[in-house]
Amino acid sequence: MKQLLETIKSAALEAIKNSSNLKETDEIRVKYLGKKGELTAILKQMGSLTPEERPKMGQLVNEAKALVEEQLANKNAELKDAEIAGKLKAETLDITMPAKKTTVGKLHPLNKVLDDMIDIFQSMGFDIVDGPEVETDHYNFESLNVPADHPARDMQDTFYLGEGLLLRTQTSAAQIRTMENTKPPIRIICPGRVFRADEVDATHSPVFHQIEGLVVDKGITMCDLKGVLEQFAHEIYGKDTAVKFRPSFFPFTEPSVEVDVTCSECGGKGCRVCKGSGWIEILGAGMVHPNVLRNCGIDPEVYSGFAFGIGLDRLTTTRYKISDIRLLFENDKRFLEQF
Ligand code: PHE
Repeated sequence: MKQLLETIKSAALEAIKNSSNLKETDEIRVKYLGKKGELTAILKQMGSLTPEERPKMGQLVNEAKALVEEQLANKNAELKDAEIAGKLKAETLDITMPAKKTTVGKLHPLNKVLDDMIDIFQSMGFDIVDGPEVETDHYNFESLNVPADHPARDMQDTFYLGEGLLLRTQTSAAQIRTMENTKPPIRIICPGRVFRADEVDATHSPVFHQIEGLVVDKGITMCDLKGVLEQFAHEIYGKDTAVKFRPSFFPFTEPSVEVDVTCSECGGKGCRVCKGSGWIEILGAGMVHPNVLRNCGIDPEVYSGFAFGIGLDRLTTTRYKISDIRLLFENDKRFLEQF
C-alpha cells in the first residue's frame, strides 16, 4: 500500500509539473484529490490494515495529499502570472508612436455665405422654406405667368425631364408653393440649387444657387422692396457699398428691377471683374405680378407683395475674390482649405 501511495504521489507531481494551463491543473485536482480521486480512494482501503499501521498510513496519505495540494496551488499561481504577463505583453502601448492625424472639416464657402444670408433675413423676420429640385412645368413656369409659348421661356435654358417635369431653373417655384398653402402675411426665403443648360465657363455653371424671397401682405410697396434689399446689401458688403436699382423685366413681377452693388474688387473704379462698369449685379426682384397672386388664390385688390432672387454663387465669388465659379463645384481640398 505504501508502494501504491508513492506511485500515485509521483504520478500526480509529474502531471502537475507537465501541465501548461489552468484547465489541465483542474483535471489533475479532480483525478487525485476529488471525491472519487485516487488519493481519496486509497484512504478507503485502510480497513485491510492492522490497527497499528492505520494511523501511520493515514498520516502518510494526508502528507501526500497536502504536498499535491501545495504543488497544485503553486502551479496555478505560476500559470496565472504567466497569463497576465502574456496579456500585458500583447497589449502594450507604444506611447512614443506619433498620434493619428485628425483633420477637421470646414464649411464650404457657399454655405458660409448662405449662413450669413439666412442670419440677415431671419433677423428681419423671414421664415426659411424648402422646395423640390425636380419641379413641374406648372410651378416653374405656368403659375409664374410664363405660359408654354411665352418668349420669356428663352431667358432660361431648361433641362426637361419629360412628362411635364423639369429641373427647376429658378427658386421662384417656391413662391407659388408657399402662396398656395399659406395665408398672407407671408415673409419667406427659399435657398436652393437651380439648373440651366448653360455652357460651362468661368462665370456659368449648369448648377448654381439662388435664394428666393417673397413678402406678401396688405399695403406692401416698392419702398419695402428697396428697404429690405438695401439693408441686405449693406449687411453683406458693408455700409459704404452703393446699391443701384435698374429697371428690368421678369414675367412674374411688375415692375421689375435688377440690383447692382459697387464692385468689391475695384471699389467702383472699373476692373476686369465688373467688366469696367464698377458695378456687380447680384439679384433680380420686383412687385409680384397680379396674375401670379391670382393664380394662387390671393386677391391682388387686397394684397400686394414683392419677390427677389439672389445669386448665391455670384455673392460668394465676389466676397472671397474667387475668379472662376467652377472652383466652387470641383471640391478640390487645396481650394476649400483656404476658407
Ligand atoms: N427667378 C429670377 C431669375 O432666376 C429672379 C427673380 C426672382 C426675379 C424673383 C424677380 C423676382 O432670373
